Amino acid sequence: MKFTFVTLFQNIVEGYFGDSILKRAIQNNLLFVEYINPRDFSNSKQNKVDDTSVGGGAGMVMNPQPLFETLSRLKSVDKDVHIVVLTPVAKQFNQNDAKRLAKKSHIAFVSGRYEGIDERVIENFADEVFSIGDYILTGGELASLVMCDAISRNIEGVLGNSDSLIIESFESNILEAPSFSKPAEYENSLVPSEYLKGNHSKIRSLKLALSECKTKFFRPEQLLKHRRRKSYEK
Ligand code: ADE
Repeated sequence: MKFTFVTLFQNIVEGYFGDSILKRAIQNNLLFVEYINPRDFSNSKQNKVDDTSVGGGAGMVMNPQPLFETLSRLKSVDKDVHIVVLTPVAKQFNQNDAKRLAKKSHIAFVSGRYEGIDERVIENFADEVFSIGDYILTGGELASLVMCDAISRNIEGVLGNSDSLIIESFESNILEAPSFSKPAEYENSLVPSEYLKGNHSKIRSLKLALSECKTKFFRPEQLLKHRRRKSYEK
């Protein structure tokens, strides 16, 4: 999978690939990452990339020219590139999107800065538009990294142990059960004793009960979805 980050701030993004799982995935040629700075495609004298908003409004908006140029070049090099624009004004990215997008061959993340990106860029180039949550970041870079990370771990071979992908929060609409590492007792704090007894069917039903408890507390709307799904499967 190839990821292209279209960003004015490569440094913000780059560091994330310098360690751990994604670093290893790059070393193993499972991921390829490149950066394009739209400023390099600006045809203005000072390589300007933003301007005041037409019709008024606070702040600067990224102008269309550098991004039109960047994205048309990108598409002429790879017609299969899937262009994703990050903006708070979009559908919220979720685990199903991560799994679906992990099947693409090339994704380009377009990050806005300032007050956002000229809407004509989105209309003309975006295959999809995503928000990562109901809050406003100073730019799309963190959002693109969040998406890239969540997508990458669904690519075959990226996680060392593919079992980690089998039972995960959100896949069945309930949150994952709590996990514990050794030792079983730490500072007078114990793991649930059932986890220690080795009866896997009992452990499984305890984990399910704990999952449902957590989901009811933190994400009650997800529990409703889970129960509806379970009664549909019966
Ligand atoms: N840019 C600024 N805020 C954002 C958000 N919440 N999601 C995606 N892109 C953004």
